[in-house]
Amino acid sequence: MEKLNKFTKIFRKIYYKTFVENFKGKLNYNFPENFHRWDLIKYLIKKNNYKNYLEIGCDQNQLFSKVNIDNKIGVDPVSGGNIRKTSDDFFKENKSNFDIVFIDGLHIYEQVKKDILNSIHFLEKDGIILVHDCMPDSLGKQAVPRYKMQWNGDVWKAIVDLRQIEELDIYTCEMDQGIGIITKKKNTSILKIDKPINKLRFVDYFNNYEEYMRVISVEKFKEIF
Ligand SMILES: C[S@@+](CC[C@H](N)C(=O)[O-])C[C@H]1O[C@@H](n2cnc3c(N)ncnc32)[C@H](O)[C@@H]1O
Repeated sequence: MEKLNKFTKIFRKIYYKTFVENFKGKLNYNFPENFHRWDLIKYLIKKNNYKNYLEIGCDQNQLFSKVNIDNKIGVDPVSGGNIRKTSDDFFKENKSNFDIVFIDGLHIYEQVKKDILNSIHFLEKDGIILVHDCMPDSLGKQAVPRYKMQWNGDVWKAIVDLRQIEELDIYTCEMDQGIGIITKKKNTSILKIDKPINKLRFVDYFNNYEEYMRVISVEKFKEIF
């Protein structure tokens, strides 16, 4: 986890609010208190009899240690998991396929998009990719570069970007900081937006997030998956 000193935090915050965006709106989500990312993963492993799990970004193994499955790989350049590499370096050498991938490494749009596309390449036909931190509630939580400790980054932009292509079917489950759900199936609801990704700002997310992200509840998730 990136360490930020007070000076860097203040400098980045002023820079972001002056040159990128200044918007005060805050969203209130209905994240269930009793259903976490490990519960979702347990549900999917049991329902689909999944055997192979990959986690990108493991930190202190808060999630990795709770995943019960035949084979698990956790990739992190700093701590946790069982492979000490960046996701890019891992994918360059990887030869295994996975049933379920949890992406939670560097929370920056370009890196998350790369992690998703690399994971797709090694995903079993009926596998699933989950992406953490898709639903920031405020400007500061998604600002890049980061100036807050509690941070989702602009992961949401990777979802908005890929929801516009035909080859992937994507939802976002309203739980645990927002979890993107990606399968290798024909897109059943292609998103159309009138701005390129690099012009999107938090205000666009704030006003359109339900449509942009195709938000579903945990109950709806269990009906579909
Ligand atoms: C938010 S933490 C992961 C939390 C964990 N998955 C959980 O569910 O509690 C993010 C982790 O991503 C790691 N990370 C940062 N850049 C990365 C990269 N390029 N590839 C893989 N992991 C990365 C960091 O070292 C950090 O441990």
